Amino acid sequence: MVYIELELDLSSVGIFSDVLQSELCDIGFESFLDKEDGFFAYCQKDIFNQNELDSILDTFKSNNPSVDFTYVIKEIEQQDWNKEWEKSYEAVLVDDYCYVRASFHPPMNSVKYDIEISPKMSFGTAHHPTTYQIIQLLKDEDLVGKDVMDMGTGTGVLAILSKLKGARVVDAIDNDEWAFENAKENVLRNNVDVNVSLGDAKMLTMTYDLFIANINRNILLQDMPLYSKHIREGGFLILSGFYNNDVEILEKSANENNLELITHIAKENWAALRFIKKQ
Ligand SMILES: C[S@@+](CC[C@H](N)C(=O)[O-])C[C@H]1O[C@@H](n2cnc3c(N)ncnc32)[C@H](O)[C@@H]1O
Repeated sequence: MVYIELELDLSSVGIFSDVLQSELCDIGFESFLDKEDGFFAYCQKDIFNQNELDSILDTFKSNNPSVDFTYVIKEIEQQDWNKEWEKSYEAVLVDDYCYVRASFHPPMNSVKYDIEISPKMSFGTAHHPTTYQIIQLLKDEDLVGKDVMDMGTGTGVLAILSKLKGARVVDAIDNDEWAFENAKENVLRNNVDVNVSLGDAKMLTMTYDLFIANINRNILLQDMPLYSKHIREGGFLILSGFYNNDVEILEKSANENNLELITHIAKENWAALRFIKKQ
């Protein structure tokens, strides 16, 4: 698959990078790699729309006149991306209990869950605050004997962790072919039994004790009724992939679908929410 790489340099990063990344998520950018003076963002070429990008940058410019930026766009082949990604890839330790690393990092025997991920193209290496926070939320989740869905599985890291934590059935779905292949590869690497499928919420059939979805605001809002339909009473929904500003609209949609917010955490302005399914 061919991707568009957007390299954006900003005169001031922090919150400004966050704001732009959130907007870019909404037009199909799915992975971000921070650098000192900005970030790289990646979008499938088929989805990329220059007019939408221009509109986001124009609005950003008028809302933030003091911030200068320049950008370069190029097409990248999967192979080039992999090499770049692997060069800059560092292992991540979450709350001293889960270590997410690549094959070229030595395992960490002192942690409870040591997960080996082939980073490649897919999102889900625990570097991003959304993945990181879901791993944090899973720390206290008792999954022994439970059924888990990981929607938008990316590398499969959350599905793999759920299985390692004792879940009974773990299903993982992604609508991107590369992520689908990558998740299957990572499941094998970690020697766990996770069913990985290519598709989206329309292919759901069974109900789950825990439903995880780290995608983006618009997809989560669109698919919330289907997610809720496939969560058992008293079961949980964990959502991430959006900013704190969007929590209200997501909570409203969840409430309309019989889900009650019980946990809200945030890191670098990215939110992660945990809901319980009511009767
Ligand atoms: C932000 S990544 C999350 C990856 C991983 N679960 C994690 O937490 O790091 C979102 C993933 O959702 C997938 N995705 C996007 N839209 C989707 C949809 N409608 N249904 C299923 N997967 C989707 C993307 O291909 C991507 O792999």
